[in-house]
Amino acid sequence: MSCIRSRLIGTGYSLPKKVLTNDDLSKMVETNDEWISTRTGIKSRHIAEEGEYTSTFCIEAAKMALQNADMKPEDIDFVIVATVTPDNTFPATAAKVARDLGVRPQVAAMDINAACSGFVYATQIADNMIRLGQIKNALVIGAETLSRIVDWTDRNTCVLFGDGAGAAVFQAQEGEGQNSDRGILATKIFADVSQYDKLCSDSGVSFNQRSGFVHMDGKEVFKLAIPCLVQGVEESLKIAGLELKDVDWYIPHQANLRIIDSVAKKLEIDENKVIVSVDHHGNTSAASIPLALAEAFAQNKIHDNDVVVMSSMGAGFTWGGLVIRI
Ligand code: UT7
Repeated sequence: MSCIRSRLIGTGYSLPKKVLTNDDLSKMVETNDEWISTRTGIKSRHIAEEGEYTSTFCIEAAKMALQNADMKPEDIDFVIVATVTPDNTFPATAAKVARDLGVRPQVAAMDINAACSGFVYATQIADNMIRLGQIKNALVIGAETLSRIVDWTDRNTCVLFGDGAGAAVFQAQEGEGQNSDRGILATKIFADVSQYDKLCSDSGVSFNQRSGFVHMDGKEVFKLAIPCLVQGVEESLKIAGLELKDVDWYIPHQANLRIIDSVAKKLEIDENKVIVSVDHHGNTSAASIPLALAEAFAQNKIHDNDVVVMSSMGAGFTWGGLVIRI
């Protein structure tokens, strides 16, 4: 039975030029390369400079994705940005991105906040709109300037995060309704809101008119991240009617290499199929999966008809997974 599928037709990414290494950090707080490397797998991260905002990286990533999709901004029907670090409290960063890209008048634009799961959540929204026939082309972006909400005197958190953006263009195309179709084959999102305080900003606009700093119960998040990331993969594959043996690439949320390794081990996914960028991006929250995805495309790792599964986990807690046949 024919159906509409959301085909991934272009990806792009953007990172600040400024790179902060572990050695640089060891001059700022009581830490060292050995601790950061062994506990997290992170070696360096990119940090926005003055005059660079979340939208700066969104726009660059979007331009690259549109170029790779051979599309123009006028072709886009919907812009969605997943972020916890918008340029302004309102309007949405997506509105600024849409304006500066030059999309058609009256194109829908909005932000969503699902923390590190933002890209998976945003993709589910775009996929549903495409499959319902409401839109044809969606620009889905995950982007952060986490460096603006990190307490640079807190070694527990400041070594973990980075800035950047990843973008994906999805297009409505005819499929057969089979899992041999190219396009998004499954999305699944979850939340366990009882964990609200385990990973959060200590402030907020409504709460105290500030944006605050990142606070995390690292050990607790670490423990729960592993089953959540596993579940994101297993549940989305189940919906797609595929098995782990069908997977060509796994792109997990890039928070900590030890978490990624444990998840891959639990799923029994060959480490050569796991895309890792946490070593040079750090944890970029909503940007982490689309950044890793776009970088993998730029490196010619991912090919037509490959099955790519992604899973995320972050504040809320939120988590989820998605499966795409390229
Ligand atoms: O994006 C959403 C998902 N986020 C995550 O998945 C992150 C999950 N959590 C983690 O990745 C890890 O818990 C961390 C990397 C954040 C921390 O690793 P850990 O192995 O859980 O370390 P810890 O917090 O238990 O700290 C161990 C020790 C402590 O010293 P004592 O109390 O044993 O003397 C810390 O004070 O390491 C110390 N420490 C540091 N030492 C050097 C904490 N941060 C640092 C640091 N440099 N940057």
